[in-house]
Amino acid sequence: MRIALVGKGGSGKTTAAALFSRHLATGGAPVLAVDADINQHLGAALGHPGPPPRPLGGDLPWLKNHLRGNNPRLPHPGEMIKTTPPGRGSRLLDLDSAGALLQRFAARTADGVRYLVTGEFDEADIGVSCYHAKTGAVELYLNHLLDGPGEYVVVDMTAGADAFASGLFTRFDLTVLVSEPTRRGVGVYQQYARHAAGHGVELRVLGNKIADPAEAGWLREQVGDALLGCLSQSPWVRATERGEPAPFAELEPANRAALDALRGVLDARRRDWAAYHHGTVEFHLRNAAAWGNRSAGADLAAQVDPEFVPGPVAARAR
Ligand SMILES: Nc1ncnc2c1ncn2[C@@H]1O[C@H](COP(=O)(O)OP(=O)(O)OP(=O)(O)O)[C@@H](O)[C@H]1O
Ligand SMILES: [Mg+2]
Repeated sequence: MRIALVGKGGSGKTTAAALFSRHLATGGAPVLAVDADINQHLGAALGHPGPPPRPLGGDLPWLKNHLRGNNPRLPHPGEMIKTTPPGRGSRLLDLDSAGALLQRFAARTADGVRYLVTGEFDEADIGVSCYHAKTGAVELYLNHLLDGPGEYVVVDMTAGADAFASGLFTRFDLTVLVSEPTRRGVGVYQQYARHAAGHGVELRVLGNKIADPAEAGWLREQVGDALLGCLSQSPWVRATERGEPAPFAELEPANRAALDALRGVLDARRRDWAAYHHGTVEFHLRNAAAWGNRSAGADLAAQVDPEFVPGPVAARAR
């Protein structure tokens, strides 16, 4: 199951993504945390010392070649764009650590969270390419991933409305907007809800840095039932930020309870693979018409396999 953490800059997306990933992993669940922001802070928040793993967006030729498998509609990996959908013959992925992609790109933290990073700006990108090419690697990866109930992909997204520059915002079972109890935080939620409307996005709000029950009450008044819980202003998080990390088991019980509630909401979701894939194809056709066909010099609508729907049935047919 996939969850995206979105929200205003500095609202606590990375903190919430890391806490939730660690909560799941220390409870024994398989978790893949994905840093889809080009400002890479997720590794540190996960308590992973040392350099980040090899970035997924830094080796697009390898990624595309790996994912196309022997799909006859994709003879040239160079013609694959971020929205190219899988079809018969494509390589569909699972979350097994032994898989070539996770072997190549994932690191593992002490709590047992595996994590991937999209990649920072390279010197060569500045003024030349747009970082959506990098976050596009995550979109391509998710569209080939057959994750199921009981396994989790937690994605830390870029701030604000940037997520709408691609179809990435529709690739989740649950989208959680992290909001401080402020008008600006709530404003970002309302804007997100407007952009996401009509795309089948399940959008909920997680309050963050909540100081007292009055602040939680204010947030509930603003967003109503969309509020699924609140994280308080946390001395445990502050200590980590000072470079004095405590074991995850010492996180405040109320914050653990909020993370558990979040898990309950995610676990109750069911993915409709046909609807999901329909969205993949829709975004691909849009991207193909807007820029992809011109850039590849080919009609990328031909990449769509009309007979194909990913999911457990497609996996069994492999
Ligand atoms: N519940 C909390 N308690 C205490 N401090 C918090 C909490 N949540 C976040 N913070 C602090 O707020 C700051 C911003 O948090 P974080 O980096 O998670 O936000 P972000 O939304 O990912 O930011 P960006 O938009 O820059 O990616 C950090 O210093 C973090 O430690
Ligand atoms: Mg962040």
